[in-house]
Amino acid sequence: MEAKRLAAEKAVEFVEDGMIVGLGTGSTVAYAIDKLGELVKQGLKIRGIATSTRSEKLARERGIDLVTFAGVNQIDLTIDGADEVDPDWNLIKGGGGALLREKIVAAASKRLIIIVDESKVVQRLGQFPLPVEVVPFGYEVTMRKLTELGYNPQLRTTDGQPYITDNGNYILDCRMGQLDKPGETHDHLNRMVGVVDNGLFIGYASQVIVGYHNGLVKELSKRIH
Ligand code: A5P
Repeated sequence: MEAKRLAAEKAVEFVEDGMIVGLGTGSTVAYAIDKLGELVKQGLKIRGIATSTRSEKLARERGIDLVTFAGVNQIDLTIDGADEVDPDWNLIKGGGGALLREKIVAAASKRLIIIVDESKVVQRLGQFPLPVEVVPFGYEVTMRKLTELGYNPQLRTTDGQPYITDNGNYILDCRMGQLDKPGETHDHLNRMVGVVDNGLFIGYASQVIVGYHNGLVKELSKRIH
């Protein structure tokens, strides 16, 4: 889709020679990986760290050198997508199931550029179901607890089987409507036993680039409090 590609290609302009680049996951980031692959063929020297086996495979196919955290402490710049972005640049991520690795990479990055099309920009987070990664053992009890607390969880499945993340876990998609205090929701969920992480990214983004269907691409300004 054009709007996603526009945002992705704008973000790639911030990549410089010699950088370690975090590679997010999803259809928007796939355009960024394609573009980076083209630039690498023209001589750009970067090393990538992928947030999923999917992005790892794509980056390899595009000729991008990959490294792991065994050899790298800090990432210069990460480019990743999102399912929702609010005016404070808080995010819901994990629609593609890669939230945990995406958060580990985001936390190790000096800079995180989020790329989205205009449909992802919202006034309040929560319309998109919040992905919560849980340990398979006892997930039924974790799910019952989340239900009691009003999180409305639903086990993500593919072909009738539980969807399994790259980390061997399950995902519960939680529909609880608008989130008034996303930071509190994040902390509350992550304190629960059985929960590995959730798709709320609070305070990680350093820049948000939005592609529009009319061909424009703009940086989203952050709300001033
Ligand atoms: C992957 O787990 C997600 O966090 C993605 O970044 C998010 O779902 C955006 O995906 P698209 O770029 O495919 O919309």
